[in-house]
Amino acid sequence: MQPFSFNPGPKLISGEGSAAKLAEILPQGPCLFVTDRDVVEFGLTDACRTALEDGGRDIILFDSVEADPSKETLLAAVELGRRHGVTHVVGFGGGSPMDVAKLAAYLLGSGDELDNIWGVGLARGQHLPLALVPTTAGTGSEATPVAVITCEGGEKRGVNSPALIADWAALDASLTLGMPRSLTAATGIDAIVHAVEAFTSARLKNPISDMYAREALRLLSGSLIRVCEEPGDMAARSAMLLGAHLAGLAFSNAPVAGVHALAYPLGGIHHLPHGLSNALMLRVVLQHNAEAARDHYAELAEILDPDCARLGSQANCATLIDRLDRMVTDSGLVPRLRDHGVPQDDIPMLAREAMKQQRLLVNNPVPIEEEDARRLYEAAW
Ligand SMILES: [Fe+2]
Repeated sequence: MQPFSFNPGPKLISGEGSAAKLAEILPQGPCLFVTDRDVVEFGLTDACRTALEDGGRDIILFDSVEADPSKETLLAAVELGRRHGVTHVVGFGGGSPMDVAKLAAYLLGSGDELDNIWGVGLARGQHLPLALVPTTAGTGSEATPVAVITCEGGEKRGVNSPALIADWAALDASLTLGMPRSLTAATGIDAIVHAVEAFTSARLKNPISDMYAREALRLLSGSLIRVCEEPGDMAARSAMLLGAHLAGLAFSNAPVAGVHALAYPLGGIHHLPHGLSNALMLRVVLQHNAEAARDHYAELAEILDPDCARLGSQANCATLIDRLDRMVTDSGLVPRLRDHGVPQDDIPMLAREAMKQQRLLVNNPVPIEEEDARRLYEAAW
């Protein structure tokens, strides 16, 4: 066995009402509660905030996190927390509020300057006690050591360090019940891509990330279409939320690759949602990888279709790609770039932009050069 390292995620509490149970765990003193306005307006934070207040804590509410949160937003959250002398941080919502909460807890706890910690492994201080509560089943941000912030000129910068990993995550599937179908589908596909790309990650794939990736794919693929068609099905919602969390643990340690690398320019330039961008590039990148990743894809195919175990690896590999492709369409997503306002003329520029994602491309099972990227965008168009 190859040597490997594995960073576990936060301590986990799961089940209906688990967000309110954080009141039994978190320290006393003022709480910086980081979220967004929609999450507050839908009443999703009510039970948790009431429980924290009943436990004697002041809630310092920061509810102005936007999609693709900016550096200004993060620094405003930190300033608010500092002014009130908060002793701990709760991040409540989708990936954006959780990312802001992770960095706010770190900057408040460590006293470090943001501009000194961009990149991998440079945040080495202590964060304030931090709990995360996801309200979408997709990003897995509550499990990961990564936070992404949009800086000057629209540049996305990330901090990736074990010092960002939350102390606790509460998985309460009832918080995901109101998600519209398109968001459920896109975030669910994103989580599936996390599992598949972690399982084939070229450099850091390891037996524990494999275990999480397999179980994540089993949970997610078994429930995605169900939650799209029966949004109130709590068992399926719970499976999606846990699956997204396990996929987050997998790709925290065995990072994502080509699908994400080609998806990022679609978000950066055409502002397509992250999950949708991944869904649009999934089939073509898997086809590009099929030869190099054949045995791994064949192994995953048996999770989606146990009957295919008796077939050869080439047939199984094709089964995986076919099943995932069908899942994208069955979830209700429209799977071609041309249907999402991406002009064909933009393809050379998208391919050039994708080449900037070398930190992801190095994890792909087979190289993706600029010419490959152009061909893959054409195929997805
Ligand atoms: Fe993702």
